[in-house]
Amino acid sequence: MTTKQVSDIVRLGPVIPVLAFDSAEQGENVSRALYAGGVKVLEITLRTEAGLKAIERASQLAPDIVVGVGTLIQPRQCALAKKAGAQFGVSPGLTKEMHQAALDAGLPLLPGVMTPTDIITALELGYEIVKFFPAQPAGGVPMLQAFHGPFPALKFCPTGGITAELAPHFLSLPNVVCVGGSWLTPKAMVAAENWDEITRLARAATELAAPGH
Ligand code: 3PG
Repeated sequence: MTTKQVSDIVRLGPVIPVLAFDSAEQGENVSRALYAGGVKVLEITLRTEAGLKAIERASQLAPDIVVGVGTLIQPRQCALAKKAGAQFGVSPGLTKEMHQAALDAGLPLLPGVMTPTDIITALELGYEIVKFFPAQPAGGVPMLQAFHGPFPALKFCPTGGITAELAPHFLSLPNVVCVGGSWLTPKAMVAAENWDEITRLARAATELAAPGH
């Protein structure tokens, strides 16, 4: 496995599913269904106990699958996730400690921002791509358009509150490289083990295009 930069990873999108699993087995099944629909990059969050095991199992599904760890809220989680097989990390925010822990673990980080001050901190630490979270509640498309003025070179992966209907609007912005969301894996569909339908949602998502691609 070669180490990829965040800039390479986000371009494998345009949609990165944000996932939380009840068990490692569920993680493996859902990841397989998403991969069958053409999704090559996914984010498995540490919101559940099963997160690390699911990362381990999903990472082994295919040589070209890129599994990231999501909801990094404690610096020490970076090394644990890297050990489990995560190839990148996503955090809802950014601190210097998280930045350093990701660097130390060799985990490319997509840090979260919501305000201009967050953005300036991210720029100071050298980030060129950030997650905009929670995208829809924090201002959605107009907010990203407003960020483009003062921060023209910065690219965003908006996440939070994005739906299949909203995704194309975000993806049409020049400063958006990909979007993240949980709409590819509705809870009821996962509970019903409706893998075919998840594959169908994944395929529809991979057919969306971002201008940054
Ligand atoms: C995230 O962590 O990025 C979001 O919780 C995903 O948001 P969604 O569930 O609203 O798509």
